[in-house]
Amino acid sequence: MQFTVSALLAAAFAAQASLASPISSRTPYVVKETHHVPRGWTKVERSNPNGRIQLQIGLKQSNMQGLIKQLHEVSDPDHQRYGNHLSADEVDQLVKPTKETSHLVGEWLSDNGVTDVDYNSAKDWITVSIPVEFAERLLDTEYHNYQHKDGSIVARTTRWSLPRHLHSHIDTIQPTTSFFRSAPQAATYMSLGAVEPEGYKKPNNTEIAKVCNVTSVSPECFATLYKTKGYKTRAANKNSVAFNNFLAEVPIRPDLKLFLTKYRPEALPSVNFTSHSIDNGPEQDGPLTPEQLADSTSKEANLDVQAISGISWKTPIVSFSTGGSPPFNPDVGTPDNSNEPYLAWVNWLLSQKSIPPIISTSYSDDEQTVPRSYAERVCNQFAVVGARGSTLFFSSGDHGVGGDDTCFSNDGKNTTKFVPGFPPSCPYVTVVGATMNFEPEESAYRAPGLYNGVKKGLYSSGAGFSNYFKRPSYQDKVVPPYVKALGDQYAGLYAKEGRAYPDLAAQGLYFAYFWNGTEGTISGTSASTPLTAGIFALINDALIASGRPALGFLNPWLYKKGYKGLTDITKGSSYGCNSKGLPVTEGWDPITGFGTPNFPKLVELAGAKL
Ligand SMILES: *[C@@H]1O[C@H](CO)[C@@H](O)[C@H](O)[C@H]1NC(C)=O
Ligand SMILES: *[C@@H]1O[C@H](CO)[C@@H](O)[C@H](O)[C@H]1NC(C)=O
Ligand SMILES: *[C@@H]1O[C@H](CO)[C@@H](O)[C@H](O)[C@H]1NC(C)=O
Ligand SMILES: *[C@@H]1O[C@H](CO)[C@@H](O)[C@H](O)[C@H]1NC(C)=O
Ligand SMILES: *[C@@H]1O[C@H](CO)[C@@H](O)[C@H](O)[C@H]1NC(C)=O
Repeated sequence: MQFTVSALLAAAFAAQASLASPISSRTPYVVKETHHVPRGWTKVERSNPNGRIQLQIGLKQSNMQGLIKQLHEVSDPDHQRYGNHLSADEVDQLVKPTKETSHLVGEWLSDNGVTDVDYNSAKDWITVSIPVEFAERLLDTEYHNYQHKDGSIVARTTRWSLPRHLHSHIDTIQPTTSFFRSAPQAATYMSLGAVEPEGYKKPNNTEIAKVCNVTSVSPECFATLYKTKGYKTRAANKNSVAFNNFLAEVPIRPDLKLFLTKYRPEALPSVNFTSHSIDNGPEQDGPLTPEQLADSTSKEANLDVQAISGISWKTPIVSFSTGGSPPFNPDVGTPDNSNEPYLAWVNWLLSQKSIPPIISTSYSDDEQTVPRSYAERVCNQFAVVGARGSTLFFSSGDHGVGGDDTCFSNDGKNTTKFVPGFPPSCPYVTVVGATMNFEPEESAYRAPGLYNGVKKGLYSSGAGFSNYFKRPSYQDKVVPPYVKALGDQYAGLYAKEGRAYPDLAAQGLYFAYFWNGTEGTISGTSASTPLTAGIFALINDALIASGRPALGFLNPWLYKKGYKGLTDITKGSSYGCNSKGLPVTEGWDPITGFGTPNFPKLVELAGAKL
């Protein structure tokens, strides 16, 4: 034990906020992190001191480098360990904190009377539920309620501190500075009657022309376009495909039934999904309440389950429903989403003995709404999921390089910048962009305007370069040539050295789907992502049926081999930030990645048989 300073000595440095017993610490408090309040948020008032907050404390992991090394080995198709994914115990051994870290953090908590602590299985996350007033003293900070322009309220701070001796043992504590909202990326719901995209040309290929209707695209069209038609699953009892629900979204079974009855009748009655509620995540089968109808609840969740089931039958489907349930007493001005749903979900997931081989997530937010420490820790958790052998698909976002009139940095300087999204900026997830039209497909775009008499905002397939994460080596061959070809265009607006996304793309305009018992259409990378997850679930099916492991962390394989099974998209642009945005080009580009799936080729490249 290195420190002998009396606990009381440090007390004077802490706890400006309260009259209660002083905070006990070996060393003085020093600011650990500051973060600017992102655009769109307004400070309202001090948070209710008696409200409870669930602090998640990320302890420094002992051997993350070792974990990442093994992740690359088991994900590189040329490595002898390819496909030898790690067990829960193996990853826990690599990421668990050192004894010193656990001891010092545990001591700090127990010295201050925090005895009710929850550890995750690797013991690298501690969760404590304490009153706000106590969290303020423990972190020498003040919580305020901040309101987003969409109405939601969270309790956050822009600056918090830790005893100096704990700075190197704790990576992050949330909720503090993360203004992450994980908004669903389902751009635009329409009742039926969408209009053809400008300049749309009907396909010449009679088979595609017969089944593809550009204003209401169906599973049969996807199956024809991406050539999964006729494939029969052979490993359904050993396979699954999962999707995530946040922000009170909940998939509705009766709507799924209506959808399948019309578009995939052979899947009835066997398609159903298993639902897991995490942190009191909602489970419901309709009918929707008037509040839910007014909030458009379940449009995202219904899209996810319908897009997957239309293509991946008979693969079992799993729905994760994570609550961000308010730990505060509900009254006017109280936070309605104070937990960090991603962390709650991923930590729960890693505590499971077995993880679905594919998980689709259609939620993201601006990278700059989260502090770098938080983004890095969550991204590390995704690497751990990858090492366990699971592919994480995330949507690239629905606003091209950034929403019009919103492209400013959040570093206090307010300079004009493209605005990348998180988690898509994390190099350990596979990111899906969106296309539209059929022969040829091009990147999805719809100008803001009146559609069917209803005002709709910009929709443009998300594209970006991370400001937090460096370009991963698997992108070294394709990203620099793209950046070089751009030359000085947009120089300074994006990070040339950053992880660029998406990695691939699929259809994402006017999906036929059901909500509240009626048919409509819906668009977004929220559509292309579960569709892609469904197609890759079938590739895993072929692999598992051939006695092979599932694909796992996809990108090293995709950039080395799999890209040959994707159809290059060469037309379009990532409109946004009041510009035409980054252009789609021949070869890889950060709007459509390598392109859209060609199922038989992908199966062959994966080393399986149809
Ligand atoms: C395309 O779908 C829309 C919406 O269901 C429908 O109104 C239209 O008739 C369809 N077009 C064709 C050519 O089938
Ligand atoms: C689907 O599964 C749920 C939960 O297991 C069950 O309650 C429900 O009856 C099932 N629905 C159908 C149509 O099989
Ligand atoms: C940032 O700059 C833009 C454009 O000058 C301005 O509209 C916006 O209000 C500024 N935002 C902040 C937070 O200063
Ligand atoms: C369809 O065929 C016509 C006539 O051969 C050709 O001009 C057009 O470019 C083709 N359209 C597409 C989308 O391939
Ligand atoms: C939901 O469905 C009910 C019953 O069909 C209908 O009365 C209501 O208008 C629908 N609400 C919305 C928002 O579509």
